Amino acid sequence: VNKGHGVKGLAAMGLTTVPRNYVQPFEERLEATKDNVSDESIPVVDVSNWDDPAVADSICEASRKYGFFQIINHGIPVEVLDEVQAAAHRFFEMPAAEKVKFKRDPTAPGTAKLGTSFSPSKEKVMEWKDYLSLQYFSEETAAADWPPICKNEALEYFKRAQVIIRRIYDVLLKGLNLKGFDKSKESLLMSWIAVNFNYYPSCPNPELTVGVGRHSDGSALTVLLQDDVGGLFVRAPDGESWIHVPPTRGALVINIGDILQLLSNGRYKSIEHKVVPNLRKTRVSIAIFVNPAAHQVVAPLPELLESTGEKPLYREIVFLDYFKYFFSKGHDGKATID
Ligand code: SIN
Ligand code: FE2
Repeated sequence: VNKGHGVKGLAAMGLTTVPRNYVQPFEERLEATKDNVSDESIPVVDVSNWDDPAVADSICEASRKYGFFQIINHGIPVEVLDEVQAAAHRFFEMPAAEKVKFKRDPTAPGTAKLGTSFSPSKEKVMEWKDYLSLQYFSEETAAADWPPICKNEALEYFKRAQVIIRRIYDVLLKGLNLKGFDKSKESLLMSWIAVNFNYYPSCPNPELTVGVGRHSDGSALTVLLQDDVGGLFVRAPDGESWIHVPPTRGALVINIGDILQLLSNGRYKSIEHKVVPNLRKTRVSIAIFVNPAAHQVVAPLPELLESTGEKPLYREIVFLDYFKYFFSKGHDGKATID
């Protein structure tokens, strides 16, 4: 009955122990995280006034130091956030026969892809997660095949989030002493966008598994909406311990992806993070991955290198090649950009 129904199907069978292929090696488990939780926290930035220089300073500093921050008072009504969360629940709670219509590989064409774990054929151990990835390429093709049960809510949230993404890019570019964000930067910074619904069913052995293994994002920028369950851990600046990102109602978690680390020649950091599932509760998070255009060449920004006289730390690459490489292996830490 539950075959093909992802981790949700497994969880619904009432397992008391996770299957062997979900058991992580010791160093990747919750126990290892618990012993090693930092008392630092990720900055929470009140962005009610984007023109306040203190806001820009906080964002740029957090992006250099932690690669992560949360924003509050960003202008997206909490109802819009609640509705997109509810839409994600509705999608995953559909019968398996309805959901499988959307089953597709992450690198396959199409604008709606249901998957489980990260890259199942490439991973040694599976992640305790199902996801629906909604792709946005352009206004014309927007949301063409997105599931009707969650389409309007995802689109509404996505449209509002774009306003915030532009603001953040503007701040980050100016923080490099460059011209702010405008249309000429879209192909490089926000062209191919994915809205991912992540579904982490309650898990009988959270101490043995991961919801998402250690990784840094292959995007330029990521905007994450989490619910009230918690479980997202970010590598602390010491490179050893983990900082928990506490659920904060109405807040959005922002993180720098590998591409922005590359473009900024290492100024802004793409930081390793992981998700631990919950014993009792299903967790839903919604991630917006903001990427360059597929065929865009990315390299440390020439205007940055010119103004500072520094050498490029990274060589140029076509974004699609980076993306394919990212999915060609399991989550193995911050290895892709290195
Ligand atoms: C991810 O980093 O892939 C997901 C983050 C989350 O669910 O909190
Ligand atoms: Fe991530």
